[in-house]
Amino acid sequence: RLLEIDPTRLSITKTTTPKELLAPKDLIFGHTFTDHMLSLEWTASDGWLAPRITPYQNLSLDPATCVFHYAFTAFEGMKAYKDSKGQCRIFRPDRNMRRLNKSAARIALPAFDGNAFIDLIGKLVKLDNHFIPSERGYSLYLRPTIIGTQRTLGVGPPGSALLYVIASPVGPYYPTGFKAVSLEATDYAVRAWPGGVGDMKLGANYAPCIVPQMQAASRGFHQNLWLFGEEEYITEVGTMNLFVAVKDPQTGEKELITAPLDGTILEGVTRDSVLELARERLVPKGWKVSERKYTMAELAKAAEEDRVLEVFGSGTAAVISPVRKISWKGNLVQCGLPDDVEVGPIAQQMKDWIEEIQYGDIDHPWSVVV
Ligand code: COI
Repeated sequence: RLLEIDPTRLSITKTTTPKELLAPKDLIFGHTFTDHMLSLEWTASDGWLAPRITPYQNLSLDPATCVFHYAFTAFEGMKAYKDSKGQCRIFRPDRNMRRLNKSAARIALPAFDGNAFIDLIGKLVKLDNHFIPSERGYSLYLRPTIIGTQRTLGVGPPGSALLYVIASPVGPYYPTGFKAVSLEATDYAVRAWPGGVGDMKLGANYAPCIVPQMQAASRGFHQNLWLFGEEEYITEVGTMNLFVAVKDPQTGEKELITAPLDGTILEGVTRDSVLELARERLVPKGWKVSERKYTMAELAKAAEEDRVLEVFGSGTAAVISPVRKISWKGNLVQCGLPDDVEVGPIAQQMKDWIEEIQYGDIDHPWSVVV
């Protein structure tokens, strides 16, 4: 059910207490928010009601509201950028709308018209555009969220919902900046499984990942690496997709590998962008690009044979995150970076290619001016 949103019914109430802007260097990911938010309520009887932009404010919800009990919540992460002409741009918003609709449908929340919603998000971004730092590496992180708001402990499809967007000015995701991270392969927990919901951006997928992340951190690792099954397939890293660049032992052919979308992998927008750019620009240079299963044992063997070129994570928040080493079964698997190098050439190239599109340095259909 694609349910209609009418952007022409938008009401805007501006804040009377504008916030002070922080210096870009003082921004911490997701800690501060802009002056306004966008909200749309839905009821089973009336569909989507008139959209509202209001001052950023608390929600008031009954303690019995279904989101608190049964995790009726799904979200997106997307970013808006300020280009050199001062225009605001959003990166591939159609992808996020498609994914949020898919996530919402899986937890019995209503569908919505993605194009109309992008239109409204553009209005919020423009209203709060002075919060977007124009420095490279900085952007406005947008957090569209949909929750079930029915006040009931009955377990069933929510009869009402709220779709809202908040916006947070952000800099580099890791406080240490663009540096290679070290990972710990998690062997006692899985993030997702066949037939599960690991390919959706549901709130319920994130809370159970914090303990393994904390345990990896307690042993000095930045993130954990999610493996799956007895084969120990490499799936994701923390909240990101993962790419491995290796050389073929026989032919020496270079291959960029990421896990296939088999239902256990989040359909990352950055993942898709890396794949598309690699197919367009690396394949002509002799690279092979594969969405295929790859095991931790294969990676360890390639590392032993000095065939790992580089490993990196991809996500909206960090864009590209180079990986230095992975702790696995008591061994450290080195991922191709010399000690004094923080990023490999492919990770750097991908980051540059993606950012020149995001910041509008070059014209590209992925970057939508709002
Ligand atoms: C991303 O890598 O963009 C994420 O999903 C991180 C977000 C949950 C903060």
